[in-house]
Order: sequence, then C-alpha cells, then structure tokens
Amino acid sequence: MKTLQQRFSDFTQPQFFKEKGIYPFYQVLQSGQDTEVIINGRKILMFGSNSYLGLTNHPKLKEAARKAIDKYGTGASGSRLMNGNLDLHEELELKLAEFVGKPAATVFSTGFHANIGTIPALAGRNDVLLIDEKSHASIIEGSRLAFSKLFKFKHNNMESLEKILQRMDPDQFKLIVTDGVFSMEGDVAPLDKIIELAEKYNAAVMLDDAHGMGIMGEGGKGTASHFGLTDETDVIMGTFSKSLASIGGFVASDFNTINYLKHTARALIFSAGIPPASAATVIAALDVIKEEPERIERVWTNTRYAKKCLAEEGFETGNSASPIVPIFVGENVKTYEMASLLTKHGVYVNPVVHPAVEKDKAILRFSLMATHTKEQIDRAVEQLAVCRKIVENVRIKKPVLDEKY
Ligand SMILES: Cc1ncc(COP(=O)(O)O)c(C=O)c1O
Repeated sequence: MKTLQQRFSDFTQPQFFKEKGIYPFYQVLQSGQDTEVIINGRKILMFGSNSYLGLTNHPKLKEAARKAIDKYGTGASGSRLMNGNLDLHEELELKLAEFVGKPAATVFSTGFHANIGTIPALAGRNDVLLIDEKSHASIIEGSRLAFSKLFKFKHNNMESLEKILQRMDPDQFKLIVTDGVFSMEGDVAPLDKIIELAEKYNAAVMLDDAHGMGIMGEGGKGTASHFGLTDETDVIMGTFSKSLASIGGFVASDFNTINYLKHTARALIFSAGIPPASAATVIAALDVIKEEPERIERVWTNTRYAKKCLAEEGFETGNSASPIVPIFVGENVKTYEMASLLTKHGVYVNPVVHPAVEKDKAILRFSLMATHTKEQIDRAVEQLAVCRKIVENVRIKKPVLDEKY
C-alpha cells in the first residue's frame, strides 16, 4: 500500500456505521433547502436547516440571483483586491454596514474565511486572544493562525474571563472573541457582561454573529443590537450561509479597522470574491428582511411552540435562547441511531457529536425556520418521541454496538 493510503487505512468509523445502517452524515438531498426536502425520493421534514428565515426559495432572492448571472456571469474570477471586485460587492458591503449599524464592512468568501482572516489580522504575536471554550471551529482556527497568546475562558463564564484578564499586562493588546448565539446549543453570550469586562480591562471585542443575524435584535440586526451594544462591540462578523440564504461572510467595524483588514487579511486578499449571484442574493435578502419583518416573528413563534412541545414530551433542551434547540442524547452511537431512525420516520435533524460538543454530550440539533407550520412541528416532535422509545427498547434488549465509539 502507498504511504498516504496506508496512513488512513484504519480510519474505518464511517464504514462501520454505514454497515450498521446508522451512518447519519452526508445525506443526499434531491431538492432545495426548505421545510420539506427529498431524501432517497421521499419527502422528509427538515429540522436541521440554518435557513432560519426560510429565504432560500424566496422569489425575490431567486430573481436577484438570476439577474446577476445574466449581467455578470457565474464567477468573480479573482481576488477582490485585484480583478474580482464587482460593484455588487461594494453595494453589498454598504448595505451590510448599514444593516448592523457600523461605519464599514468587508465581504469574505465564507464566514469561516471571515474568522480565519480577521482574527490573525487583528491580533499578532505579541497580543492576547481570549475566546470562549465553546467557540465555533473557525474562531479556533483563526486563533491558531494568529500566533497570539491564546486563552480559553469557561463557556459564558464571566468569572473565568475576568480571572484571565486580571493576569494580563494592561498595555498588551487583548481581543475577546465570542459567538453571539452558540451554533450547537443555541444559547446566547452575555455580551453586556463581556463588554463591561472589556472596558474595565481595556480589551477589544469581536462578535461572531453567524446565528444571531436575521433573528436577534430589532429587525434581525443581530446579537449586538439585541443588547443595545452595537457601538461598544468593536467587530461584528456574520455569514450569509444561515438567515441570509446564500454563501459568504463579512465583518463590520470602524472605517480604519475595515480598511486595514481589506489590505492585510490573507483569507480575503488571497481568495476570490463571492460569485455575483451570491452577492445579489444577499442584497435582496437584506431588503426582504426589512419588507417582511413577520418572518422574524414567525421563527420565534415556532421556536416557542417547538420548545413547549419538546418539554411536554420530556426532552431536555438546555439553555437555548434561539431557534437552535439542542436535544440532549449523550452517547455518540445513540445519537446516530436516533438521527438515522428519525430520517426513516420522515424527519431530518442534525446529529452533533464530539468534538463539535463535549464528549458524551452528543445532541440532536433541532432548528426552526419561519416557514415551518405548526403541523410540521407537531409531526416532528411526535416522531422524536416514537424514535426515542424504539431506540431505548432496542438498547435494553441488546448491548450497545461498540463501546469504543
Ligand atoms: C458560529 C459560526 N461561525 C462561523 C461559521 C462559518 O460560516 P460559513 O458557513 O459561512 O463558513 C459558522 C457556520 O457553521 C458558525 O456556526
């Protein structure tokens, strides 16, 4: 066997779970992202989507994407620093800055790029990064690229953050980075307290609002707006891959910071601009969010209703304060069993296991969209209860598949 093939020959977990018929990943969707999708030719209820406002099939967004393709073609064909900067990108940046309430913004190829480009550009070798221990993978990767001194504070724990800040040299540049809405468990960062500490210890704050944008705050302006702390939050990062129904990411901040990022963030200047259709889609999405504020209301109504139904069925859903509702399962294998069985029962939810969550704290990530109906939520919760019963009964009768997983 050649060296590369040899190296990964014992990575057999996926095959193992496929053989057992409980491999839940890379499900093939034969339809667009909506409250119902087609998997294996069958209609399945989708409760795993990040399209919280249900905009991926909105006629105005689709029309904007089509028009952009007609006018500009399919790709930006280069870095925006050089040949790939379209007037659409510039228009989008102005709109994003206005939307979140900051003087300037810049667009990256994805939200992941926004974090891995921005964090190392803002904090260097002699600086300090303080991140929540449950930060999204892109924040962790960005921190690794920064070569700064990295400290992880306990999840949403201000005592832990303050203890670290107290030890720092007051003159050292310190950047605190936190998710606004945590992507797996749907809880919200105490941004007000983080900013209080940042002011006390002279630190800057960067907010990853991938999941907050579109749903939190007045008009969906995000978690900083929810706390009334837009000015005090130094950098706001967002993505187009959730509520904004496309692909791409951005950061918004003061003019000088954005100007610096536009000329130094390597993930921005050494990567191509987003395709015209994506830029046009997001411009249209920002308009639709303004024109149809009832979507935000609907996603919250659905969230409250789903949480009530899940609690009535005895599901433990943690501290979620958003349309992301974690259903605690515990073991990885049980989570795979539940997710696979649920799909067979016509409901898709996301299985989330270590390292995305702590060991033995695997969850089913159940997420709501504005466009779900009450009947769809009822059906999903009913099937969750049915599948839990089946999985538990089977487990009582025969031992768990393989303890090592
Ligand atoms: C908190 C958070 N930050 C960043 C990202 C990356 O966003 P994108 O999908 O645009 O790369 C995600 C996506 O999962 C996320 O959940």
